[in-house]
Amino acid sequence: MDVSGPGPLTNPTLELIAQRSSTRTYEPAPVTREERDAILHAALRAPTAGNMVLYSIIEVSDQAVKDRLASLCDDQPFIATAPWVLLFVADWQKWTDLFAASGVADIEADAPRTHVGPGDLMLACADAVIAAQTAVIAAESLGIGSCYIGDIIENGEQVAELLGLPPHAFPAAMLCLGRPRKPRAPIGRYGRDLVHHDRYRRMTEAEMTEVARELGELHAPSGLPKGVTSYPQAVYRRKFASAFMAEMNRSAAWWMERWSRGGP
Ligand SMILES: Cc1cc2nc3c(=O)[nH]c(=O)nc-3n(C[C@H](O)[C@H](O)[C@H](O)COP(=O)(O)O)c2cc1C
Repeated sequence: MDVSGPGPLTNPTLELIAQRSSTRTYEPAPVTREERDAILHAALRAPTAGNMVLYSIIEVSDQAVKDRLASLCDDQPFIATAPWVLLFVADWQKWTDLFAASGVADIEADAPRTHVGPGDLMLACADAVIAAQTAVIAAESLGIGSCYIGDIIENGEQVAELLGLPPHAFPAAMLCLGRPRKPRAPIGRYGRDLVHHDRYRRMTEAEMTEVARELGELHAPSGLPKGVTSYPQAVYRRKFASAFMAEMNRSAAWWMERWSRGGP
């Protein structure tokens, strides 16, 4: 699929989606309470598994917390400059707490269930991320840009402590939001063979050679970084084999272990 030009149809919603790009520099002006409420209202309208709203949203306004997040999330100082920071927490804690407070023990014998499992986590993550992306689009419609922070998964022990997250609350997505300080333009996307038909199809050797070349043309038009001979090599070095991904994987294992254990 080619997404470099305009799509086959257009309307204000499709145009908004096509024009969005991540915003990392912000006007200092705050996002007003009315705008915040409109964005949060839209997020809550997102689809949610079983209509259970398996997430909570933490609004971070304390500058000291933003500063700490900037450092814990792979040292990204722009996080501390964002007028509004939202954390979308995959949240089964509220339900397990509600179960405990609502006499679930009385019916447990009929439907025994001892722990909150990985499936529960995955479903809650889907809920949280769908709400986050709905917030992104709602914000964009109000002229407010945003940027996800995937590094929120890192340094789990310290993030959990900083935000007071109990065992069944996992930070599935973090968003920095604010009015863009400079004009933005959508950046290129590689969409070749995006859609598979009826079943998954892996690339052939010949296709991979072509894809590697096209990726380089799109994402590194003025040349590859020193020491690599293809764009996938650059991605391997800069992302996949990076120190931050090593930390993300270490920390993700910690989050999952804590979730399964259900303890601190
Ligand atoms: C799950 C996820 C994690 C991301 N994490 C970061 C991040 O930690 N820091 C950052 O500057 N951008 C982050 N981004 C933004 C991406 O870099 C950005 O979406 C991508 O480069 C495409 O650019 P665009 O959003 O402007 O189209 C993240 C995006 C996603 C979806």
